[in-house]
Formats: sequence, C-alpha cells, structure tokens
Amino acid sequence: MDKLVIEGGHPLRGSIKISGAKNAALPLIAATLLAPGRHTVRNVPNLRDTRTILKLLESFGAKTELAADGTLTVDSDEISNLEASYELVKTMRASVLVLGPLLARFGRARVSLPGGCAIGARPIDFHLQALEKMGARLVLREGYVEAQAEASLAGAEVCFDIPSVTGTENILMAAALAKGVTVLKNAAREPEVGNLIEMLQAMGAEIEGRDTDRLTIRGVPRLKAADSAVIPDRIETGTYLIAVGAVGGEVTLTNCRPGHLPSVLDKLRQVGLVIEEGEDSIRVARRGALRNVDVKTMPYPGFPTDLQAQVMSLMAMTNGGLSVIHETIFENRFMHVAELRRLGADIRVDGRSAIVKGAGGFVGAKVMATDLRASASLVIAGLAAQGLTEISRIYHLERGYDNLVGKLRALGAKVQQMRE
Ligand code: EPZ
Repeated sequence: MDKLVIEGGHPLRGSIKISGAKNAALPLIAATLLAPGRHTVRNVPNLRDTRTILKLLESFGAKTELAADGTLTVDSDEISNLEASYELVKTMRASVLVLGPLLARFGRARVSLPGGCAIGARPIDFHLQALEKMGARLVLREGYVEAQAEASLAGAEVCFDIPSVTGTENILMAAALAKGVTVLKNAAREPEVGNLIEMLQAMGAEIEGRDTDRLTIRGVPRLKAADSAVIPDRIETGTYLIAVGAVGGEVTLTNCRPGHLPSVLDKLRQVGLVIEEGEDSIRVARRGALRNVDVKTMPYPGFPTDLQAQVMSLMAMTNGGLSVIHETIFENRFMHVAELRRLGADIRVDGRSAIVKGAGGFVGAKVMATDLRASASLVIAGLAAQGLTEISRIYHLERGYDNLVGKLRALGAKVQQMRE
C-alpha cells in the first residue's frame, strides 16, 4: 500500500483544472447498459472507482475504452452476463447503480448487496422497495439481490423517506424503460442527478422535473446510445477551496461550476476566504485570520456531507473559536476526528455533532486514511501542519481524486507518494 508524505506550510499558488465528477460519471456509465450501440461519455475522471465500474460493465460483456483525455466509449450490444459479483461490488457500493438498468433492459439481474462501509450501514432498501413497486420480484439470497421482472417493469408512484442520490438514479434508469408513468417524490436534486437526466433524455427518455424533488418519467419501449459529458466535480472543487483556506495562497480552479456549490461558497466567505466566481472558474485566496462557522450537512443545495471532513480540518485551525459541525446524512461520518486529533486538533464528538475548538494550527504526525473524504481532510491538515505528515492507506484517496498529488505539486505543495 502507498502513503503520502507532506511537508506542511507551503501556501498554494497557481491554477489547476477540475476533473469530471466521480458521482456523476458512475451513474452515467451505468446508464450505458440501458441501450445497445456505441455510447460516448466525455470528461470521465481517471479514478479507482471509474475503473471499477468499467470492470463491472466488462464482466457483463460490454466493451469499453477510456482515452487519456477522459473520452469513454461503451458498446453494450453483447451483454451476456447479468451478475455483479461480490468481489467487485464490495470495493464500491455505487455498483448498485447497475441494478436498475439491467432489470429494465433485460428483466433480470443478480447484484451483490454492497455491504456496509466506514461511514455507515448505507442500506439500499429504498432502491429495492421502489423496484418492487414497479413490479420487480426480488429475492435476497447468499448476499445477492436476485431481481426478476417477467414482463417489463411498470410505472409506479414512489416516495423516498430520504432523498437518496443513487436511489433516485437507479429508479430514473429503471423507469425510463418501464411501461407507463413513474412519479418519484422526495427525489434527490444533486447536480449529478441532473447530469444523468440530461444523458437519459439524449437517449430518448421522457423525464420532467429536473433539479426538483419530484420527477415524472414516462417509460418508452427502447432507448438509443447517445453522447454525454460528465459535469465538473463540485466536491473536488470544494476540497481545493478549503485547502487554500487552510494553508493560504491564491489559486484559480478552472473547468468548474460555481453554481453547483451555493452553500459552500457562502460558508467559505463567512470563514473569511476571498472567492471570485467566473463562468467556469473560481479564484480563491485567504486574507487574514480564519473565522469559526457552524456547519450542518444537508441534501443539495445545502452544505454537502462530502465536504464535512474537509471543513472540519479548516475549523480546527482557527485561533481558539468554537465551531459545531452537525452531520445529518450519515450516522458514522466522523472517522477523521481521531486522526485529526493526532495532528493536534481539539474536537469533541457528541452523537452526530462535532464541537471543534480552533487550535491555531496542526503539528505533523503519522495518520491513517479511513475513507475517501476523511483522507482529504488529513491531506488538508498535512498541507497546513508544521513539519512532516505521513498519511497511510491512500488508496482511499485514489477512489475519488484524479491526480491529487500532481495537482497539489503544480500548486507548490511539497508532497511525495511512496511505498509504505
Ligand atoms: C451518494 O451516496 C454519494 N455517492 C455519496 O458520496 C454522498 O455522500 C451521498 O450520496 C449523499 O450525498 C455516489 O453518488 C456514488 P444516499 P448514496 O442514498 O446514494 C440512507 C463520496 O464520498 N439510505 O443519498 O449511497 C443512507 O444510509 C460518496 O463521494 C437508506 O437508508 O447516499 C444515508 O443515511 C460518499 N436507504 C442517506 O439515506 C437507502 O436505500 C443518504 O444516502 C438509501 C439511502
């Protein structure tokens, strides 16, 4: 396994390009299963997770080719295997996104249950209940979901208890080929869901309500392969903005969408960052002392849970003030707290709230990555810490950040990746 060694204290300066969004690329790639022919998906990021879902599609019989510029072609004419194996699914929960399309197009699918992960149990009951309402017969056997829909799926009225992102995406794909109309209430409104809707519409799907919590999908008999493009990664964008807040400097992020980070930009301006928004760029600088803010994670357009660990690192650096960070989406998303404490942070966890007392900075130490976004918070702390920080198990980072070391180095950070 690899580790990162970071020499802290070097402000970030320069410009980097934001990559395509992991959480948009995954549903778009899954959606290529819905129609035969040659699909093109542009701006696909080069990540462990995108490589995993491409392996999954190839295990079904699809042919995929990812060019160096991020242009992906998928030919899903010859799908002969309808089983998503535990070996692949256990490495990436988002593999559940193949269930809807396989069932919708082939009437059958056998997908391993994802199993839990570090940040919570993360069940898929909303996905399964909705598919059953659409006429699927599901049996849970030996850790797999065995799904059948003799005829095609039927449109249904579905209401999620919680606006599940991948739940919304799975039902969108299943409903696109169902007989009749599906209405999905309390749907997720994340930009990544909108990106999938755009692709499905290009394939011939009839969907209304994009960017709202109520989606209406009129099923069509078949869909056709189409060209689509992955939106920029708003979580990667937020991660770099927060990094500049932590270690100082002045950075321009290009190929990004300021409009996809409404609450994040507001919150970081309250902290004291200077943020200028362009059409598809953001310029960020730190001026003066950091101010403490409270953060409550919420479904889009609220503050994203995927930036909670990163903003906690920032709040741990203020001079003495208090911040309350409340995590409403996942039940165990504070794995980074123990590691941040090793770097000198003063954080107390009380249920789903973390009370952060600004310690004025970090002191480098050896720490361990536990999950994707927790690892990002440790990188941010290491960039700002006095001395050296070593972060082990950085395969977590490689799941969701395209060329992180290269981008940080381009901004003047002193960071090395090496064997543990
Ligand atoms: C997506 O996960 C993202 N992943 C996550 O990003 C993100 O943190 C999350 O949405 C919330 O924004 C992808 O898009 C691939 P949910 P997802 O279903 O869809 C509960 C990252 O770091 N729930 O919106 O799995 C669930 O336990 C990752 O990039 C059920 O109870 O999240 C959670 O508490 C981490 N039953 C809440 O809903 C279900 O059937 C929201 O989960 C589904 C969800």
